[in-house]
Amino acid sequence: MPVPETIAQPGSGVETDTGPGRPQPVTEVLRPHAEHAFADELAALAAADDRPRPTRWRLSPWAVATYLLGGTLPDGTVVTPKYVGPRRIVEVAVTTLATDRALLLLGVPGTAKTWVSEHLAAAVSGDSTLLVQGTAGTPEEAVRYGWNYARLLAEGPSRDALVPSPVMRAMAQGMTARVEELTRIPADVQDTLITILSEKTLPVPELGQEVQAVPGFNLIATANDRDRGVNELSSALRRRFNTVVLPLPATAEAEVDIVARRVEQLGRSLELPALPEGVDEIRRVVTVFRELRDGVTTDGRTKVKSPSGTLSTAEAISVVTGGLALAAHFGDGVLRPADVAAGILGAVVRDPAADRLVWQEYLETVVRERDGWKDFYRACREVSHDAR
Ligand SMILES: Nc1ncnc2c1ncn2[C@@H]1O[C@H](COP(=O)(O)OP(=O)(O)OP(=O)(O)O)[C@@H](O)[C@H]1O
Ligand SMILES: [Mg+2]
Repeated sequence: MPVPETIAQPGSGVETDTGPGRPQPVTEVLRPHAEHAFADELAALAAADDRPRPTRWRLSPWAVATYLLGGTLPDGTVVTPKYVGPRRIVEVAVTTLATDRALLLLGVPGTAKTWVSEHLAAAVSGDSTLLVQGTAGTPEEAVRYGWNYARLLAEGPSRDALVPSPVMRAMAQGMTARVEELTRIPADVQDTLITILSEKTLPVPELGQEVQAVPGFNLIATANDRDRGVNELSSALRRRFNTVVLPLPATAEAEVDIVARRVEQLGRSLELPALPEGVDEIRRVVTVFRELRDGVTTDGRTKVKSPSGTLSTAEAISVVTGGLALAAHFGDGVLRPADVAAGILGAVVRDPAADRLVWQEYLETVVRERDGWKDFYRACREVSHDAR
């Protein structure tokens, strides 16, 4: 499948090279890649980093872990935490990348698998774009290589007619490749990774050649716990990976911290006003999500039913960001219960019949009785009523 090297037209203001070279920094895009968004932090880390770096790594494993977990460098530069969670998880993930085993990030939806994978690739290789998106229709070419058919017909099979996959490019350049949603990829396509990961080579029989991986190559795959069984990994493939499970945030404080941080970042890129008063609402959204997810209230006293949705941290982030946008455009700029109520309802009620009952029951037995939650209760009742 021919893949254009440049997706934007030159001069359109958005020139981003998705080809084999390093992506060029771009000034204004909706969502810059991690290596651009955090270029200053990465540069400061590289300057401060005097520990040994594995071949072709931009940073030492210690500096990669610091980039992910945050910290203050000797020169005073503050590195913001990207991942909030157990330090050990990040250390194991980074160390795995420095070995000959690939890394599999596993977890329920919204536990930052994609996020961590992007930041790891950015910190290790300076490029997070060598990415294969796994879907039920991912063809073998997306993992191995394809052909530019015009050239193939005109010239026959040649190196110039070959279109390398991101994985092949990563092998040749000693970079980090990423495979998203590995378990969605059909089993036979998944298995093409076995040779790549065990032999570190990708044969091209049409040319009688092979591409051998150079030091620095490794692969990060992500997979969803809930999708298990869609196309379960063969045990041969699983053995090539070190599996790191990303947990849900352990405490409500940690989750509030994650949501507040990400909402602040997203809000800035969407040009929404910063809202320190919104923290109350963030805590409420996180509490509601955690209680419904856990099936019990925070004080452990009341059992509640869980709805069918996942109510992940990622969804809490979008509920609050959506609320912030409502407040900015149609309110007085202060995040209020009414701004998040509709978002919460949308996240909780996925199945209109069963989930609506679960939500009503939670609203009447838990939210209604809680001190200081009167306005929130009223707002939720109103949207539930309107949505009927
Ligand atoms: N522990 C955490 N630390 C920092 N950010 C987090 C954490 N958990 C979730 N997030 C945030 O949640 C958002 C969603 O994460 P991401 O898309 O990586 O989830 P995912 O695990 O890949 O989900 P899915 O299975 O749906 O693909 C990101 O913006 C990320 O910043
Ligand atoms: Mg993901």
